[in-house]
Amino acid sequence: MARRTEDKRVVLAYSGGLDTSVVTRWLTERGWEVICMTADMGYLEADEDLESRAYAAGAVGFEMLDLRDDFARAFCYPALMAGALYEGRYPLATALARPLIAKALVDVARRHNATAVAHGCTGKGNDQVRFDVSVQALAPDLRILAPVREWELTTRESEIVYAQAHSIPITVSVDKQYSTDENLWGRSIEAGPLEDPWTEPPDNVWEWTVNPEDAPDDPTYIEIGFEHGRPVTLDGEEIDPVTLISRVHDVAGANGVGRIDMVEDRLVGIKSREVYEAPAATTLRIAHEALETLTLSKSQLRIKHRLMQDYADLIYDGLWFTGLHQDLAALTSSMQRHVTGTARIKLYKGQAVTVGVESPNSLYQYSLATYDEGDIYDQSSAVGFIDIFGLPVRVQAEKQLLRQPGGIFDVSSGRSS
Ligand code: ARG
Repeated sequence: MARRTEDKRVVLAYSGGLDTSVVTRWLTERGWEVICMTADMGYLEADEDLESRAYAAGAVGFEMLDLRDDFARAFCYPALMAGALYEGRYPLATALARPLIAKALVDVARRHNATAVAHGCTGKGNDQVRFDVSVQALAPDLRILAPVREWELTTRESEIVYAQAHSIPITVSVDKQYSTDENLWGRSIEAGPLEDPWTEPPDNVWEWTVNPEDAPDDPTYIEIGFEHGRPVTLDGEEIDPVTLISRVHDVAGANGVGRIDMVEDRLVGIKSREVYEAPAATTLRIAHEALETLTLSKSQLRIKHRLMQDYADLIYDGLWFTGLHQDLAALTSSMQRHVTGTARIKLYKGQAVTVGVESPNSLYQYSLATYDEGDIYDQSSAVGFIDIFGLPVRVQAEKQLLRQPGGIFDVSSGRSS
């Protein structure tokens, strides 16, 4: 066994699962002093044994960091404000957590004078990119070790054999079907039977949401209050982000809201079948979007819709610690300055629907919109507006479209012009 020295101290992002337990031992065998670090971002699998399991696997130190509040305030809420959904559907729970874990790894490494950080990601996923790129930005001098990307233990079975041979305590069973990741913002599930996109997700995939078919027959209504785009109240009660997200999670999950099943494009070029449960993120997004329709102008909404896809890609691709991210975040928070108000959401059998929305900054004006008494809109001025607005249409129709063979509209040919 190689000699341990001060300059071979590494901080490992440790989950307590099979991979990171084996990584701990594997690095130890190669002369590294391993400090295991676990970040609590919410819904950490209840396991008080994490620390003793880390030591049993060979760690010389263990740190548990409660990062839930930072995660909610500085990652989940900004992503919500930006409307970031990867490929239109995934609220990015796993992707959002990675830069914060990378930051924590670097902080712990500095405190312990470590020369490296490590993670248990494979070489096929997005998470390795997110960790590596984030650490490279935050601490270019630190080495990054990713044993799972390199080692000889290429199957789950070989890892289990290794663990048993080295008396590493593991709680997983050999037939564990899925690879999962959980935090406040959502739960990601992949592998096993999900690798066939034709297969409907088996019931045992879902842990946070009831089957919409079995959800209560009566709807649940909740009111979410926002200030400058951030959720601040639930049913009128002011609560901190972690509690708010958890409560929305519970009630939305109980109504079967937040199941996502998609084929997505990984950064490394692979298409992958991914299943997510994101009851809180889904519900808060619907509420937030409704409030934006009331408080943002048409052109602000258009620009936002164009940019949010870029924002989502940036988060997905692990580019959190970049200038572009800072610029998009600044634009987002500027755009959110009037997004204050309340959305009323109906949760019912897998759906979250906005049924009411109000804001002190609302751009909706009853006296302009109404068809009843109190209308202040001057309908006669619409005539002049249409005359100018329709001018180029009239010119083109007359000069070109009415003159072409078949005319401007020909149903029989299936052409509309
Ligand atoms: N496809 C998702 C992403 O890249 C989820 C990854 C889940 N990670 C896991 N270890 N199961 O963000």
